[in-house]
Formats: sequence, C-alpha cells, structure tokens
Amino acid sequence: MKVTLVLVTSVNGKLTEGDNTNIYKWTSKEDQQYFFSLIEKSRAIIMGRKTYEAAKHKIKLVPGKLRIILTKNPIKYTNITGQLEFSSEQPKKIIDRLRKENYREVLIVGGNSVAASFLNAKLIDTISLTLEPYLFGRGIHFLDKEISAVKLILFRVKKLNNRGTLLLQYKINRLELKSFF
Ligand SMILES: NC(=O)c1ccc[n+]([C@@H]2O[C@H](COP(=O)([O-])OP(=O)(O)OC[C@H]3O[C@@H](n4cnc5c(N)ncnc54)[C@H](OP(=O)(O)O)[C@@H]3O)[C@@H](O)[C@H]2O)c1
Repeated sequence: MKVTLVLVTSVNGKLTEGDNTNIYKWTSKEDQQYFFSLIEKSRAIIMGRKTYEAAKHKIKLVPGKLRIILTKNPIKYTNITGQLEFSSEQPKKIIDRLRKENYREVLIVGGNSVAASFLNAKLIDTISLTLEPYLFGRGIHFLDKEISAVKLILFRVKKLNNRGTLLLQYKINRLELKSFF
C-alpha cells in the first residue's frame, strides 16, 4: 500500500496565510485541479480535525471513499460507516487496518501535526508538495513539530503555470537514511 502526504505551501513553507483557514484564496487553480484529481482517485483520505473543519464545506461524502479525521475526542462526532470516521488511533494502527482492508493508496492531506505524526512513524512513502509563489509572514508552517531527519529523493518536478507554481514529488529514502546516521 502506498501512503502519500499531499500539501501546498508558500515558498517559505506556510500551509496557511496567517490565521485564514481558506487556502483556496491563494492556491492556484492548477494546484486545486491536481489536488482534487488525487482526491477523486483516492479511496482513503486522512486529515486532522482542524483541516476537516476548514474543508468540510467542500467534502462530498460518497460510498466507497473513506475519510478518517484524527481527533483526541472522536466521541464528540458522528461516524458514517465507510465514509467518515473520527479516530484517535495511532497512525500505525490506522495504516495497518487500511492495509488489511485492502486499500491500495492512502492520501494524508495535513495539517502539520498529522504530517509530523505519520512522518515520525515512518509511514509516508511519497510526498507531493506544491510550492505557490508567495512568502507569508504568519501562518501554520508545514512542519513546526519535532520530527526525525527524513532524507528525500526528488522524482518529479513540474511547473504548473506561468506564475511559477511548482509541483515537487519526493520519495522517502529509507535505505540511505540508515547509512547516513
Ligand atoms: N496548505 C495545505 O496543504 C494545508 C493542508 C492541511 C491543512 N491546511 C490548513 O491548515 C489549517 C489546519 O491545520 P493544523 O495543522 O492547524 O491542524 P490539523 O493537523 O488539521 O488538525 C489538528 C488537530 O487534529 C487532531 N490531531 C492531529 N494529530 C492527531 C493525532 N496523532 N491523534 C489524534 N488527533 C490528532 C487534533 O484534534 P483535536 O483538537 O480535535 O483533538 C488536533 O488539534 C487549516 O486552516 C487548513 O485549511 C492547509
């Protein structure tokens, strides 16, 4: 099973512009098309509770597509079997469960604490990072939580538009990391 972390940031690594939770104000239509094409294809999507709150007006629940929302208080929310699950399980437990249930690809769509916990648990295989040509002062950083060093291999770069939006795709290099330290 392949686990992909998908994020879009400013050039200086911000997931949001200040406190504004609406990222579609500054992300390009080309990145949005790319992101929603991944969502369309994916059968399992994992996100943090705050990302869910920010995006829920755009989320269309459909049979056959499972959204897992991480929260420490899953009891506060109502699950819809096979479509919407609120969970406080450890990342490894979730991934093991999805593997047993024969999911072939899983998308992790943020935010930063979710990215950090899946990276720390070494559960991410590829990272798809779009850089939008902005610098933001305040805002949530892609990774401001403690993580162990991760060595990446860039396998694709694509300029998505004339403004300079870049799609960068990386694999996690687990083998070299072992010999590196
Ligand atoms: N640019 C991008 O690609 C991108 C991607 C994602 C999000 N965003 C934006 O970023 C903002 C939210 O991101 P964020 O990083 O602040 O928050 P987040 O990661 O989406 O949500 C944080 C919350 O998720 C829950 N959580 C996270 N890790 C958990 C774990 N291991 N176990 C159990 N619960 C866990 C906790 O919920 P409880 O408090 O309920 O316990 C925590 O408060 C939104 O505005 C969103 O639009 C941008």
